[in-house]
Amino acid sequence: MNISIIGAGQMGNGIAHVFAQAGHRVTLVDLSPTNLEKALATIGKNLDRQVTKGSLTAEQKATTLQNIIATSTMADGVKSAELVVEAATENVDLKLRIFKELDAHAPAGCILGSNTSSISITRIAAATQRPAQVIGMHFMNPVPVMKLVEVIRGYNTSDAVTKTVMDLSTAIGKAPVEVNDYAGFVSNRILMPMINEAIETLFQGVGGVAEIDTVMKLGMAHPMGPLQLADFIGLDTCLAILRVLQEGFGNPKYAPCPLLVQMVTAGKLGMKSGEGFYSYTAGSKDLVVAPSFR
Ligand code: CAA
Repeated sequence: MNISIIGAGQMGNGIAHVFAQAGHRVTLVDLSPTNLEKALATIGKNLDRQVTKGSLTAEQKATTLQNIIATSTMADGVKSAELVVEAATENVDLKLRIFKELDAHAPAGCILGSNTSSISITRIAAATQRPAQVIGMHFMNPVPVMKLVEVIRGYNTSDAVTKTVMDLSTAIGKAPVEVNDYAGFVSNRILMPMINEAIETLFQGVGGVAEIDTVMKLGMAHPMGPLQLADFIGLDTCLAILRVLQEGFGNPKYAPCPLLVQMVTAGKLGMKSGEGFYSYTAGSKDLVVAPSFR
């Protein structure tokens, strides 16, 4: 299948990776050539990791990379797509703009998917002339590792499009789960209040960063504590999703913790900015609590 991925960030490069590894022809589209270069380097590094572990051969790595082409022109990048998966920043206006453009340039039969983590698929679909062909395809980070694809049906998404996306997700080795289109869907409606509560617990001084994460890791068998996970997802993304939940349901229980708002305002975005609840040094896997929380 010809699949175009819009946005070469953390999620976009992972999605390109898994489709290309499954033998699809992938076009990775990003306005920034630097982002495209970085994404291809990341995909190469992640494939190397699989080769080292023995889950992929060097030939399969080479074929996977050959299956990916990169372009910074949207019109060109989607002109022969059968499926587009948009993985741009979690911003409504940006996504609406992108979907208008996709609708204008992608072939008539092309399915338009969004990897949005919380924004209404029905709203995104309304920006196009093909709402029956718009669907949510929500991958989890790190995409090559996590099995889930949350498949979100918008109000007008057709049965046929849903079936195509469910079948395709299974065929690339993922486990798709079909859900309906309400703010945060299932994944982030449950995950983000937990993360927000962990931040609130820290804010009120009930426990320190390491203590809160250890309780959830050792007590609830979570692979990462909620504060480490927030850093991993990006604190700006967590805040954006909480705002979508708050606005979508009008319920104060989704109000983001003031500490989260403060940290995002201060540019402490977690792993990607080098500091959140923990400090990150390139090349080191050590988990060091950030200076503000020591
Ligand atoms: N690409 C390919 N393989 C990768 C990888 C990547 N980017 N990152 C890790 N791996 C592989 C490793 O090679 C390793 O493989 P083996 O099991 O075959 O040895 C395996 O994943 C585990 O990796 P590590 O040993 O390096 O590290 P770990 O055991 O600490 O696991 C983790 C890392 C998989 C990220 C684990 O900590 C984890 O599952 N964390 C929780 C992740 C999570 O909850 N993700 C969802 C976030 S929410 C989201 O994405 C959606 C949203 O809308 C916000």
